[in-house]
Amino acid sequence: MVDWETLRSACEACHRCPLGQTRTNLVFGVGNPEAEILFVGEGPGEQEDLKGEPFVGKAGILLDKMLACIGLSRQENVYIANIVKCRPPHNRDPLPEERFSCLPYLREQTKLIRPKIIVCLGKVAATTLIDPSFSIMRSHGVWYERKGFWMIATFHPAALLRNEGLKRDAYADLLRIRAKYEELTSDSKKEPPAETDG
Ligand code: URA
Repeated sequence: MVDWETLRSACEACHRCPLGQTRTNLVFGVGNPEAEILFVGEGPGEQEDLKGEPFVGKAGILLDKMLACIGLSRQENVYIANIVKCRPPHNRDPLPEERFSCLPYLREQTKLIRPKIIVCLGKVAATTLIDPSFSIMRSHGVWYERKGFWMIATFHPAALLRNEGLKRDAYADLLRIRAKYEELTSDSKKEPPAETDG
């Protein structure tokens, strides 16, 4: 298994698809490398490309609020990455060949982080990681157990900015994510039972 530094260098030097030629910065990922939850978006937009960090534009501000409302943050207890690490021109969806060229890097990141939960933000992440025919409208908020990970998809924050009506369902998904996080982390956090006399 590669280490973080080697993996980042490999991504910096990557020529597996043409996106590396048009990007400003590689957008590798951000957060706690030992996080129990990995959030995956689709790919960097303009702001992310300029800053080299995922989710720093309007959608990112909303994502940070969504995380905060269930006690999570990129500074503390989640890791955030994307299906592709270089900005697709004009913010188009990453093409299937771009997604699958970049996916091995996300897999290596996942091996290093070893999260218990993977949250797909939107259709591109869900169709790439859960099921090619995944429908966000039909199957958001549903848990899938895959290769030792608990996986779930919810609406992409950019979709929530376009359609406020989805926010109620997105909030319910967030509560499910918080509940699963507590369920999966409570055992390791539990103190051994206190000894009692008699
Ligand atoms: N949208 C994404 O899917 N990822 C980002 O990093 C920013 C916007």
